[in-house]
Amino acid sequence: MTPWSPESWRSLPKHQMAEWEDKALASKVLAKLQKLPPLVQPKECDRLKTLLAEAGRGERFIVQGGDCAERFLDCEGGRLETQLKLILQMGMIVEHISGKPTGKICRIAGQYGKPRSKPTEVVEGLGEIMSFKGDNINGFDPKDRKWDPERLLLGYWHSAATLNFLRGYAASGDHDHGLRSITVESLKASEQFGSYTEDAKAISSKSISSETVEFFTSHEAMQLDLEEALTRAVGSEYYNLSAHLVWIGDRTRQLDCAHIEYFRGIANPIGVKVGPSMKNDELKDLVTVLNPKKEEGRLLLITRYGAGKAEAMLPDHIEAVKASGVPVTWQCDGVHGNGVVAKSNKLKTRMFDDILTEIMEVIPVGGEDQTMVDGADPLSSPVTDDSSLTLIGRRKVKVDPTSLAVGVGLGALVGFLVSKALSKGTLVNPSIDKASAKVATVQSMKDIEETCKNNNGKAVFCRCWRSSKFPYCDGSHAKYNKECCDNTGPLVINA
Ligand code: FES
Repeated sequence: MTPWSPESWRSLPKHQMAEWEDKALASKVLAKLQKLPPLVQPKECDRLKTLLAEAGRGERFIVQGGDCAERFLDCEGGRLETQLKLILQMGMIVEHISGKPTGKICRIAGQYGKPRSKPTEVVEGLGEIMSFKGDNINGFDPKDRKWDPERLLLGYWHSAATLNFLRGYAASGDHDHGLRSITVESLKASEQFGSYTEDAKAISSKSISSETVEFFTSHEAMQLDLEEALTRAVGSEYYNLSAHLVWIGDRTRQLDCAHIEYFRGIANPIGVKVGPSMKNDELKDLVTVLNPKKEEGRLLLITRYGAGKAEAMLPDHIEAVKASGVPVTWQCDGVHGNGVVAKSNKLKTRMFDDILTEIMEVIPVGGEDQTMVDGADPLSSPVTDDSSLTLIGRRKVKVDPTSLAVGVGLGALVGFLVSKALSKGTLVNPSIDKASAKVATVQSMKDIEETCKNNNGKAVFCRCWRSSKFPYCDGSHAKYNKECCDNTGPLVINA
């Protein structure tokens, strides 16, 4: 393996990156970015790595969400507060229902770039123009599509303002009451509305700890000259200090190209998007190059197959990774493999049911393999404007498009459904003596007689695997049956 440096990617083939016509201006901008203070701290990146390692072992659930691409115009307090609140509340829902702690990653404060399937597009009246590659590169207005390096600095200022606001919000404590009020009104049409209401009520009485409001940031590191400028030496390591987690997109993961070279050398936890075109051998090689020290929590594999494809693809991908011996944490992005063009406005969007279908397909596959699939990236569209409505698709969810109800309603729905699927479908035994390969309960007749003597002539044994007094029943089957529409009950032995 050749030696690595923050700029060693430069000599390799590059994909999806903007080239700057004015090289002198680009150099000036990048020199300025190299001097500006880092946006996150190395220790925070290490902390996220620890949480991802726990998720990889099935001890934690990771929730990641945010905009597909942030716009500079979206950097305003109310909107940012809504997004953070939504992700934190999804974490609270998942924790409440799954019984596992969560790690929350916000795709925010740096997601200003967009990979494009085509570099140009044809616009009526203007002919063929450059595609919009995100506010970091060019403007959304068709007349503003020239690639402009000064936008990289604008991206930095917007990231800094966003992080400053979100960190202040999380640290202030003012959010305390608001976070515990989970809006479920928009889910009234669901048959499970009663159970959602009960869960929301139970969550409202929980206390908010510093871990409840802990969050991390992420973005796709696509424009590598920008990422290099924000990469800093920390002891003998190099960290990309523009975000806690950066990921490689499905279009830039070629083994012999620039992005893999850059990512293999940074010390952050890193993500890789895994789409349907990923070959098993390719994935095996990729994880080996990106995590040569076999470090837990280093590598997050984010699947984005599209609804209907996970069952066919994920088992072989899991086997390929296992064969490499590299520990990874799996996450499901139910959004990006399900793009469709809306007939009404020709905008790219997703059907909400497709998103949920993909997530639900991934859960049992991961569960059977004991490689827990730990997350979702469920909301990649703006959460507070009308375009969110297109996400709802065929699902009967009534929302007010101008209120928090859109984001919180959809986020809550995803949180509830995913958590319930996790607690329902994956494991018969979710928690009892998990260190053992097999839990065998041996009770002698003498024990049973003794129990009957002390328990009104009955020994009542748990068959739902949820009792805190296992092997005896403590009534937990009632709650489990209600949540999961099951009908388990105890084995009762009468003396
Ligand atoms: S608690 Fe498991 S059957 Fe009652």
